[in-house]
Amino acid sequence: MSDAYATTALAHVNAIPPYPPGRPISAVAREFGLDPAKIVKLASNENPMGCSPKALEAIAQCAADTRFYPDFDNYSLREALAAANGVSFDQVLPGAGSSDLILQVSRGWLNAERHAIVPQYSFAAYESTAAAQGAQTIVVPAKGWDHDLVALAAAVTDATAVIFLATPNNPIGTAVAPADLEAFLAAVPAHVLVVLDEAYREFLPAAEQPDLKRLLAIRENLLVLRTFSKIHGLAALRVGYGIARPEILSILKRLQMPFAVSTAGQAAAEAALADTDFAQAYHDLNARERDRLQAAFASFGLDYVPSKANFILFEVGDGPAVAQALMRRGVITRPVANYGLKTWLRVSIGLPEENDVFLSNLGEVLAQRAA
Ligand SMILES: Cc1ncc(COP(=O)(O)O)c(C=O)c1O
Repeated sequence: MSDAYATTALAHVNAIPPYPPGRPISAVAREFGLDPAKIVKLASNENPMGCSPKALEAIAQCAADTRFYPDFDNYSLREALAAANGVSFDQVLPGAGSSDLILQVSRGWLNAERHAIVPQYSFAAYESTAAAQGAQTIVVPAKGWDHDLVALAAAVTDATAVIFLATPNNPIGTAVAPADLEAFLAAVPAHVLVVLDEAYREFLPAAEQPDLKRLLAIRENLLVLRTFSKIHGLAALRVGYGIARPEILSILKRLQMPFAVSTAGQAAAEAALADTDFAQAYHDLNARERDRLQAAFASFGLDYVPSKANFILFEVGDGPAVAQALMRRGVITRPVANYGLKTWLRVSIGLPEENDVFLSNLGEVLAQRAA
């Protein structure tokens, strides 16, 4: 076999590059002989405050009885999601993270004859799940750090089945203005399913958040994705959801693994959704610390992309080398060379004390490299 990943699996599957996740604390502690308690992980855009205490209570209640499979219909969570978003019960579908729903879109919509379109600098799962279907992904160059919405719509052909678009966008941190998004959704031909990934929606100021009702009115062939992994701090439980016409969600549901969302995940998500004070507190902390980190990058003389999310992209020269030097010191950031951004790093915004540790180590690493 020619390369390290080749097996007797399908050739197009052998060719899929492995997903490079943020390194877990336990792995970094083992590799560098560090005390796990002193490691700061700012690599996967997780909530540094944890999750709502009400979600923790809900999880504890589930722990008392684990015999039964979860509610197949996710009844209680779906009712809560429908009410919170002003849509009907059959317009929402939970998944095992929004990643689950991205996967099912690729399985249901793409094959060797039907391709996906993504903007340059997109969440890696869009392309990898398309590749698993033997489908091509057409990458439309960004305009500066923003999506080129005109070029994305213009790239559509009869063979385009899906456009994946995230706003705010990971790993860049920029967001599409609501009016531009609406114009884009109106311009894309009706045969294309537009997947609008709003994993970081809640970090936008309210006035900059797209109006769901207007989006659904403008475009029928639309799937909006949300997650409990970011603002709600439930990444460990893997819960996300889609909002779309019932016909679209019915396809996704048929493709999902039965009982995809665990009982604890459903209960914790419902409790987290209700705790708007917790989400607001994290939103506010994130906004304050984002300003502080961006000001610090400026004072170091580093370029950064002003962020609308809970992470910041900043330029350090040799991204993988600086990430490695920080990791040796117990600070885990995310290299983005796999996006073609070798000179940049992405850092998730942590608690004030975590950001202090990150900044002081970054200053020392940069000084050492300059010496
Ligand atoms: C843009 C984007 N979409 C989706 C996801 C996946 O989130 P989930 O944990 O819901 O699978 C992420 C996670 O980092 C993301 O950045």
